[in-house]
Amino acid sequence: MFTHSRKLRYLIAGGAGFVGTNLARRLLETGAMVDCVDNLSTGRKANVADLARYPNFNFIKLDIADTASCNRLLRRRYSHIYNLACPTGVPNIALLGEEMLMVSSVGTLNLLKVARRSKASYLFASTAEVYGDPEVFPQPESYVGKVDPVGPRSPYEEGKRFGEALTRFWGRKHNVDVRIVRIFNTYGPAMSPDDQRVIPQMLSRLIAGKPVPIYGDGAQTRTFLHVDDLVDGLMTVMENGANAEVYNIGGDTQISICELFDLAKMATGLAGRAEFANHFIADHRGRCPDTTKVRELGWRPCVSLVDGIRQSHRDLVASIQARAMAASGRPAKRLAEPHHASKSRAAEGFPALT
Ligand SMILES: NC(=O)c1ccc[n+]([C@@H]2O[C@H](COP(=O)([O-])OP(=O)(O)OC[C@H]3O[C@@H](n4cnc5c(N)ncnc54)[C@H](O)[C@@H]3O)[C@@H](O)[C@H]2O)c1
Repeated sequence: MFTHSRKLRYLIAGGAGFVGTNLARRLLETGAMVDCVDNLSTGRKANVADLARYPNFNFIKLDIADTASCNRLLRRRYSHIYNLACPTGVPNIALLGEEMLMVSSVGTLNLLKVARRSKASYLFASTAEVYGDPEVFPQPESYVGKVDPVGPRSPYEEGKRFGEALTRFWGRKHNVDVRIVRIFNTYGPAMSPDDQRVIPQMLSRLIAGKPVPIYGDGAQTRTFLHVDDLVDGLMTVMENGANAEVYNIGGDTQISICELFDLAKMATGLAGRAEFANHFIADHRGRCPDTTKVRELGWRPCVSLVDGIRQSHRDLVASIQARAMAASGRPAKRLAEPHHASKSRAAEGFPALT
């Protein structure tokens, strides 16, 4: 479907992150040239090292919110720009809230200028968080959301809302071909074992034989999408989406956090127990995308949650082993076999997630 007969040059901001790495790999495999820019705030050097084996890959360490640095990109020519750069993870809101606001505002503007100079198509990665604590299920793109502009999640939520407004306004004013994608919870390979989003945290704790924190009563629901399906969706919107339009991309089967915990144990064969705790930040009861618009472009998710969790488990085990080897200079203990938490010593030395 996405094969390129001529060399296209892509810029991926946030390319050392989870989604950026998976997108970059997919584009590189079509023969495209890919520049990734990233300041490595939540991205991983290991992801960059993995991509560096492709001859058409180029990594530039750069903060897109730093206008002087970003101006260097004005000298390069791109056909497409994916702006995925933003620190992620709920605990990071307290730590990197200002960076979230700056990258979504100044960083977005800087990359829009690069897109204008290059006459590139531009995609802004927004989030389901723009709907806040929704009162409408599922959420269509026309739903304006319920967000507290000064609430504890506001640096991420309002940053992304501003980024959307700027992308649409600036695109129209300066005739830049822009799209906005609201991404719902996505998981899969290339997530860090330290990532504190639901699935990697759950799997990392199970692998380490540690209790899995479940915030609240675990009845809150989410949908989960495998990153391969998200990459398909991003490329579909980039290629076939309409100028200045907004598209939800996400899984559309709702599952509670407790049900997800049971599924993760079943899919991986790992044993473990949940540790219920009060949420450290106001949580949203649920979120579910209305994906009618992106489906009209031909997109369909293909990876089942069970298969995706199994694949994520294998990838996290490999990452943990690689990290242990790098730290000790010796081959790591084998972690791949399912084991009971009480018997597990395999992940000793693996830093605890908070
Ligand atoms: N994965 C999801 O479930 C999900 C859900 C909703 C939205 N999103 C959005 O998709 C995008 C990618 O998310 P991800 O899951 O890959 O997260 P990630 O944290 O793995 O990747 C984000 C990348 O952006 C980089 N970055 C942050 N600030 C930067 C800056 N100022 N300049 C350059 N690089 C910077 C980080 O170092 C990181 O590599 C983000 O914008 C995120 O808000 C993701």
